[in-house]
Amino acid sequence: MTAKGIDFSLRRENLSKLLLDDSVILVASSSIKSRNSDADFPFRQDSNFYYLSGFNEPESLLVIRPSAKKRKYVIFCRDRDPLREQWDGFRSGQGGAKEVHGADEAYSISLVDEVMPSLLEGARNIYYSMSSPNGINVGLNKWLDQIRANTRQGSEVPENLLSLDSLLDELRLLKDEEELLLMRKAGEITCEAHIRAMTNVTPGMYEYQLEAEYLHTFIKGGARFPAYNSIVGGGNNSCILHYNENNSELADGDLVLVDAGCEYEHYASDVTRTFPVGKKFTVEQKKIYEIVLEAHKQASAEIKPGNPWIRAQDTSVKVITEGLIDLGLLKGKANEIIKKGEYSKFYMHRIGHWLGMDVHDVGNYKKNGQWRDLEPGMVLTIEPGIYILDSLEDVEEKWLGIGIRIEDDLLVTENGNEVLSANAPRDIQDIESLRS
Ligand code: GLY
Ligand code: MN
Ligand code: MN
Repeated sequence: MTAKGIDFSLRRENLSKLLLDDSVILVASSSIKSRNSDADFPFRQDSNFYYLSGFNEPESLLVIRPSAKKRKYVIFCRDRDPLREQWDGFRSGQGGAKEVHGADEAYSISLVDEVMPSLLEGARNIYYSMSSPNGINVGLNKWLDQIRANTRQGSEVPENLLSLDSLLDELRLLKDEEELLLMRKAGEITCEAHIRAMTNVTPGMYEYQLEAEYLHTFIKGGARFPAYNSIVGGGNNSCILHYNENNSELADGDLVLVDAGCEYEHYASDVTRTFPVGKKFTVEQKKIYEIVLEAHKQASAEIKPGNPWIRAQDTSVKVITEGLIDLGLLKGKANEIIKKGEYSKFYMHRIGHWLGMDVHDVGNYKKNGQWRDLEPGMVLTIEPGIYILDSLEDVEEKWLGIGIRIEDDLLVTENGNEVLSANAPRDIQDIESLRS
């Protein structure tokens, strides 16, 4: 079954190949979270659930039974309900689950306790997500108890409960061409938003007004929601890593750091640009910016197959430490400062993270105790930064309140990398030319 070019049945097949014999997979959907008695938060499907099904409704459960003769793929979902659909919108019902989403069988979610034991009985292994907030543990215990109660009638109780996460995380970590089309599109829309914001920002504007430029562009581009809460921080707010208030006035002479990315068809982008609220960078801002940009360039050059993921991190630490020593912001020998971690006064986060359906996407960073090597199809962010909080003591005043991060989304290719967010300017000259 395909939707937006994605072959969900192939994904289920690929996952099935990784299972032990006689296994059943259970995956639960997200639920709707109510905001008050009359309004809900926007629904966002669980990424694992969507990855395997493309089924975008709450109150649903997937059962995948590769070694069964019948009912290999079963969806439990809400019933059609003309009254509720009139108020809340379309439901696929069991008909849609079969005809549109390729289930061999579909049942009402209200029948899950009745039907599920018959789907689990006789299987040896049950895989499910042990980390998902949409846990199915409660149901699972109940269903297993029901099977156990019937052993004298010949029921066989599954023996092993196994984590689905490690298998699915690895599949999700390597993106295929269809996923990359969506991620490129997310990157394009996000870059368009950064360009619009760089063009339209003016002193006196509020951070939330600049945020509106992003949301406008995201939604107009077909991305209804940001992939995470947008960070729009002017002046000293740019030094607060997860700043979300976005309610201060932007002042001439300050920089504004915007970390904002849209989610397009369940795939995230995650892009940061830092630019002047007025027309130009000040001398001090430029000096810090050039260090971050150099760290970004050198770290990005390390993103290629066979390189360990950590190399980009180490490179960024070295460039930033040496740059800050040159400016007199760090004192001593680079090696010593790095060994003692003293650079983290100004650069206190990692170089980046996996990116995909979730902004901090799934996948291990180490394998057998070693930082893993990069492989074609992995997508990750490169996001070095320097943050000089205005409350820092023993720092010359001219540097205070400067916070700079430059973040891009990189796909590891056969020969190196492709920057999915290349359209948003990074060089000082290119940014300033948008400000004139
Ligand atoms: N926007 C979250 C991050 O950069 O990791
Ligand atoms: Mn990031
Ligand atoms: Mn970010």
